[in-house]
Amino acid sequence: MTNLSSPFASSEAEMALGSGRTPGVSTSLDTNGIRDQFPGLTPGWHYLDSAATAQKPQAVIDACTLAMGRDYATVHRGVYARSADMTLAYEAARRRIAAFIGATEDQVAFVRGATEAINLVAYAHPKKGRVLLSLIEHHSNIVPWQLAGWQIDVCPLTADGRIDLDAAERMLTPDHTMVAFAHVSNVLGSPLDVARAAELAHRVGAELLVDGCQAVPRLPVDVAALGCDYYVFSGHKLYGPTGIGVLWSDRLDTLPPWQGGGSMIDRVTFDRTTYAPAPTRFEAGTPAIIEALGLAAAVDYVDAIGLDAIHAHECALVGSLREQLARRNSVTLFGPDTSAGIVSFAMAGVHPHDIGTILDESSVAIRAGHHCAQPLMEHLGVAATARASFGLYSNDDDVAALIDGLARVERIFG
Ligand SMILES: Cc1ncc(COP(=O)(O)O)c(C=O)c1O
Repeated sequence: MTNLSSPFASSEAEMALGSGRTPGVSTSLDTNGIRDQFPGLTPGWHYLDSAATAQKPQAVIDACTLAMGRDYATVHRGVYARSADMTLAYEAARRRIAAFIGATEDQVAFVRGATEAINLVAYAHPKKGRVLLSLIEHHSNIVPWQLAGWQIDVCPLTADGRIDLDAAERMLTPDHTMVAFAHVSNVLGSPLDVARAAELAHRVGAELLVDGCQAVPRLPVDVAALGCDYYVFSGHKLYGPTGIGVLWSDRLDTLPPWQGGGSMIDRVTFDRTTYAPAPTRFEAGTPAIIEALGLAAAVDYVDAIGLDAIHAHECALVGSLREQLARRNSVTLFGPDTSAGIVSFAMAGVHPHDIGTILDESSVAIRAGHHCAQPLMEHLGVAATARASFGLYSNDDDVAALIDGLARVERIFG
């Protein structure tokens, strides 16, 4: 059976701590040791698109391989030992992932990703009414509310690109039943003061949903301490597999089921069906078994390194990159100096797609486009930005390669 406590992941990750500092940034992570554990990080390739999806450590690949191979069986149904073992492992994965965000297992529903989690809440919520979103939101925290028929208000941003909570305070009324904000912006890296947002929402009787997609890989997250009502994230940005994510809430039982099928029921007749308690009632059909075990291994891996260390490491890289970009006349920087792990910028007279293509010729992979945040692009007055985003394996060589590549862009377009 897959070992969910993953001593392999922990010891490998722990070995990566404490030595061989990346030159130029103040950090305790040995990124050379760490990078060796990521087969996707081929030598000489500078991956600066971790906000889109993170590369996977070998420990996650191994956990998925075991779950799909030697240990594979269905869950919750089998009467044979392998299936019973897999059921235990699947539920242990839920416990492990819940503990990672300071929650208990009954509060964690496995979904396909953050997008599905937000759709679930938007569709299933018994009090569909007014929702306050912000200009910074990813399309997956806009479109589900539109499709599910909510009335939408939009909170503006501060001048440096954070959700303006003073404006939110003025805008919120007792008509609002929901506030849904990103914990960290996928474009600007701006962090949200979740505790204050929760206090403002609760003051008018609304609930707060936090889109934690970009936060869980970068900041320590304790949902109980944050005070929000729903917290969602995707496994693949947290060094885990695609196809799995989490909807956390301490009130899952107040939501009715939203998709019907096997597994989510208590008893089915043609006259009437009763449902399993949460979280099972939100997991219709055969669940993402392999992915759940892979995500538990990812959480082990990240925990062994420590999110405080990862956060400090990424902040140092952001500081170094922003400082070097700010020195270039051709560059416009977006977002606050305190952005978490993500830096968006533009270059005068060069389309971000051209920046991305030229950088790719130097083996530097950034993202260029609207980043699924078209309302934010409109607000910034651009069609697209170039975005560099870090992971726990990113280092000063990546920053240097990006800066060298941008100098080449300037020469080509200059
Ligand atoms: C802030 C934010 N929210 C939501 C999503 C959607 O995540 P997924 O496509 O994994 O459901 C993303 C993905 O880029 C994101 O960055």
